[in-house]
Amino acid sequence: MPHHRSAARVSSFGTSIFAEISALAVQAGAVNLGQGFPDFAGPAWVKEAAAAAIAADLNQYPPYQGLPRLREAVAATWRAHGWREVDPAHEVTVASGATEVIFAAVQALVDPGDEVVIFEPFYDAYLPDVVMAGGVPRLVRLHPPVGVARPLAPDDGQSAPDVTEGSPSAGAGQRPSPWWFDPDALRAAFSPRTRLLLLNTPHNPTGKVYTRAELELIAGLCIEHDVVVVADEVYDQLVFDGATHLPIATLPGMWERTLTVNSTGKTFSLTGWKIGYGVGPRWLNDALRAAHQWITFSTATPLQVAAAAALEGALENGYYAQFRAEYAERYGLLRSMLHEAGLPTLPTEGSYFIMADIAGRGFRSDAEFCRWLISEVGVAAIPPSAFYANASDLPLLARFCFAKRPETLRAAGERLRSARTPR
Ligand SMILES: Cc1ncc(COP(=O)(O)O)c(C=O)c1O
Repeated sequence: MPHHRSAARVSSFGTSIFAEISALAVQAGAVNLGQGFPDFAGPAWVKEAAAAAIAADLNQYPPYQGLPRLREAVAATWRAHGWREVDPAHEVTVASGATEVIFAAVQALVDPGDEVVIFEPFYDAYLPDVVMAGGVPRLVRLHPPVGVARPLAPDDGQSAPDVTEGSPSAGAGQRPSPWWFDPDALRAAFSPRTRLLLLNTPHNPTGKVYTRAELELIAGLCIEHDVVVVADEVYDQLVFDGATHLPIATLPGMWERTLTVNSTGKTFSLTGWKIGYGVGPRWLNDALRAAHQWITFSTATPLQVAAAAALEGALENGYYAQFRAEYAERYGLLRSMLHEAGLPTLPTEGSYFIMADIAGRGFRSDAEFCRWLISEVGVAAIPPSAFYANASDLPLLARFCFAKRPETLRAAGERLRSARTPR
């Protein structure tokens, strides 16, 4: 008889709430605004490039660093955005999705006992990535806008407004970001053992876009403590309402200590392709490549060809502006649907998620609300507690995804309106 015992490093990983929510949503025939992926097709010209690459027999292993054409397209994208001249030979590495870039980077940089600063809530892979490397997470809370989690008066008959106040970490004279962190809490999270800080902007699940002042504060601490930043910027093209995405790698002194992570999944609505890349100084790419060569070694050749075509094409054909405009419409549509259903929303500056305030409706937890929403209303959302290491003392919110067709959002809206009265 084999011992049915997993290694300690994975023994604490249960099935994620996403699997539970997805299964419940299928069972109940719910409109799924839970998991973050589009229910519409990616651009035809990109799909055609993949089909053509397969037909042209570009189907064998590519170089483990990534296809030169794709690395050049990434460098051209950085140049076009005005971020930096990047050397595609040594400063760009392709892997299987942003997820693998981050996993490989953490494996490459974190020794057992090293500490990693992570803002909480966080994209759910970060914690297991650190735990599997034997690292120690140091969590810093992002707080919702002041005034959130106020109970919503039942039957007030009004459309629910945005919740917009508060932002102590934004800095004077800057656009306030509604989600904020305490600068002293961040300072206190650094120690002589700190090796890495994992940053995500625009941020999942809150929709926060870090301000220049916040990024400068983070950069100053990382320079002072000689800490590397892994900056997950997969939503960099999804910013709204005047927010500006600023890559932390472009701040003074940060290029040499930052690995910027992106992927074609979100930007080209092709999440199943899992083509990601890391951009940073040569020493960080060497470290990343050292780990990546023993994880997947290399990533699907024809999809890399198509990812290169996507990045090249987007610089020429106005794709990014159209992409943002379409998403701004989806954002507006879902927000008004939620308001009509009596759910106040927090402002989304970036990403394709809206956080709705579910306080005052008689639910003890966000998971309880989301289970009820699926079974009784027929709409799936994600409980943000899934993005915290410790689910105590959380605001009562639910995360809705607007990477959906207008008809999907309207169908969800109809169901939500019919369930307007709280339990
Ligand atoms: C913040 C963040 N990083 C990374 C990913 C995953 O990217 P990829 O599919 O390229 O691995 C996601 C997907 O939801 C995400 O929200």
